[in-house]
Amino acid sequence: MLILAFESSCDETAAAVVRDGRTVLSDAILSQADMHALYGGVVPEIASRKHIEAIAALSDQALREAGVGRRDIDAVAVTYGPGLIGALLVAVNFAKSAAYALGKPLIPVHHLRGHIAANYIAFPELEPPFLSLCISGGNSMIVDVQGYTQMRIVGATRDDAAGECFDKIARVLGLPYPGGRPMQELAQGGDDRAYTLPKAHVADSDLDMSFSGLKTAVVNLVHNAEQKGEAIDRPGLAASVAAAISGELVPRTILAARRYGHHTVVAAGGVAANARVRADLQRACEEAGLRLFLPPLRLCGDNGAMIGAQAYYEYLEGARAGMSLNAYANLEI
Ligand code: KG4
Repeated sequence: MLILAFESSCDETAAAVVRDGRTVLSDAILSQADMHALYGGVVPEIASRKHIEAIAALSDQALREAGVGRRDIDAVAVTYGPGLIGALLVAVNFAKSAAYALGKPLIPVHHLRGHIAANYIAFPELEPPFLSLCISGGNSMIVDVQGYTQMRIVGATRDDAAGECFDKIARVLGLPYPGGRPMQELAQGGDDRAYTLPKAHVADSDLDMSFSGLKTAVVNLVHNAEQKGEAIDRPGLAASVAAAISGELVPRTILAARRYGHHTVVAAGGVAANARVRADLQRACEEAGLRLFLPPLRLCGDNGAMIGAQAYYEYLEGARAGMSLNAYANLEI
C-alpha cells in the first residue's frame, strides 16, 4: 500500500511516499530553520506562509523521487496535531484537497505517534509493545506503547520541553536557533560537572518532568556573570546542561520501563539526536537489561516519512478522516 504523507506542524514542510509503513520511497523536506534563526525562534506567521509556498512543490518532488504517479497512491496521510495551528492547517488542507482530487482515503496522524513510528522505518524487526521516550522541541513524554495505535502517556513534562530548554539556553549563550545541535557541539570537551544545576522533582509523580527551573537557573547564571563581567566556562556549561537534561530523561525512562513491564525502549523526536542522551540511554539500558532502539539522526527530526509509516497502521485500524478534518494545537496521543 502506497501512502503519500504530509507534515507541517512546525518549521519543516515535508512530503513522503511510504510503502506498507516500513519502506520509504521518498522523503522530501524543506526546513525553514534559517529563516526563523533571524528571530531566535519559530515565528508562527512566517512558518505558515513558508509552508504554503513549499507544499505543492514538495508533493511533486516526493512523487517524482518515489518514481510513482498520483494514480499509484492508495491513501493520503497528514499530521493534524499537535503543533502550531496555522502551520498544521497548511498540510491538513493540502492533504484534504489531494485525497479529494484522487478519490482516496485521508488518514489523520498524531505528530508524536509519527515520531515513534520513525523507528519502524529504521528497524524492520521492531514491533510494539515497548516504552518510548519521545523528546522534541514542543513535547517531552514517556509513552507506554501497547500496540501500533494503542498508547498512553505515563510521564510528561509539566512545563517546557527538553528541546525548548536546549533552545532557550542556546539563545542566551548567543548560539543560533535551533540550539540543540550547537549546544552539543559547544559541549564537546567540556566538563559536565563544571556547574551544579538544579534537579527537578515533581511532587506527585516520579515519571513527570520539569525543565523550566533548569532553564531559568542557567539564564540567570549567564546574566549574572555578564553583569559582573565574569567569564563563563561555555563548554563546561553546555556539558553540564546536557548532563542535567539527560539526567531528567533517562532514569525516568528506565523506571517507567520497569514499572510497565517493558523489555524494549525506543527513543524518538529531535532531542533523541543528542549525543549525551543517546550515550546515557545506551548505558542505562545495558545496565537494566533493556533492548534499546535509537533512531538514526536523519529520522529524529520532523519528516514526512514517519507520518507515512504511522499512517499505515492507523489505516489498518480503520482511521479515516473526512473533508471536515481540522488541525489541533493540542491533541491527546
Ligand atoms: O522533533 P523536532 O524536529 O521538532 C518537533 O517536533 O518539535 O525537534 C526539534 C528540537 C529542537 O528543540 C532542537 O534544538 C532539538 O530538537 N535538537 C537537539 C539536537 N538536535 C535537535 N537537541 C539536543 N541535541 C541535539 N543534537
